[in-house]
Amino acid sequence: MSQILNGEREDDLKQSAALLCNGGLLAVPTETVYGLAADASNEDAVRKVFAVKGRPLLDPLIVHVCDLEHAGAIAELSEEATCLAKTFWPGALTMVLPKKPCVPDVVTAGQPTVAVRSPAHPVMRRVLALSGLGLAAPSANPFGYVSPTTAQHVQDSLGERLAFILDGGVCEHGLESTIIDLSHPAEPKLLRPGPIGVEVLEAVLGKSIEVFEKSASDDCAQLAPGMLSKHYSPRTRMQLCAKPHAELEGAKDERIALLYLCKPSADILERVDDMPVYWCTESDALEDAARQLFALMRRLDGQGYDCILAEAAPNEGIGVAINNRLERACAS
Ligand code: TXA
Ligand code: MG
Repeated sequence: MSQILNGEREDDLKQSAALLCNGGLLAVPTETVYGLAADASNEDAVRKVFAVKGRPLLDPLIVHVCDLEHAGAIAELSEEATCLAKTFWPGALTMVLPKKPCVPDVVTAGQPTVAVRSPAHPVMRRVLALSGLGLAAPSANPFGYVSPTTAQHVQDSLGERLAFILDGGVCEHGLESTIIDLSHPAEPKLLRPGPIGVEVLEAVLGKSIEVFEKSASDDCAQLAPGMLSKHYSPRTRMQLCAKPHAELEGAKDERIALLYLCKPSADILERVDDMPVYWCTESDALEDAARQLFALMRRLDGQGYDCILAEAAPNEGIGVAINNRLERACAS
């Protein structure tokens, strides 16, 4: 079991910073998902992050920094990168930039670029400030599994392998950050959709952003090594569909759960009366559904269903990121 530190207690924050400064690992809250943090300049500490997650060393990590100045110490900041950071930091935007020599190869999987983000969560910001470190942190889940959005999720899946978790409550967005590749600033690429929509980034940059589409073979995932098609997956089989209640025929022998984003209409609920039906939020806001989605996927994963039929979001705004995660969870 991990020991859970309280992000509202000054002593626990100091202990957290000291742990990291001494080469230890700590699960930390961010506004997107919980991360598994280590001092980015300490190669041994970073190697432990890969080991605890069971993550291949070819999949590089995001370095979390306090601010733009701190980012400039580890990466080359183009005009475009500076402009996006000034607009969206602190926040859910990660930028892939040319790295400076001080960043160890183990962090970037030997690539000439480094992914950088300045997170907004006040507890994470305190840890960054108290430690003075850049923190390499992937999501705090076993490689390939659903990302954690509470301290308890981290405890559930990494508790046996991790000494400390810093609790900062439920993550505000519940989905991982948007990742933009600005290593060639004239040709920005979206590597992962997230809470900050691509249209919003395009408006600020004043140019269009190419959306990186993974090609058929996962070998081509080298450009964005974590962009493997199967990811964020519960153990239970999942299937993405426009209307889960319309997919039930011919599946009589299976234990099926229906997973909706927002609460389905009374009409639909009546039609699936005898089925286990779940929804992420009582509200009709997709942002609320996004915040709860991973928690619900984890909960359903423990209930012995043969299959989860999951509802796709309208493909706009945060819906793009929701569908991206659901598609990966459904990839077999
Ligand atoms: O919201 C988030 O981004 C969370 C929180 C903890 O900050 N972190 C997170 O990290 O989702 P992770 O490691 O689970 O996902 C980061 C993704 C991976 O797919 C990785 O391959 C990609 O970023 N990445 C990291 N460095 C890269 C680089 N230099 N070039 C291309 N992709 C990179
Ligand atoms: Mg991850």
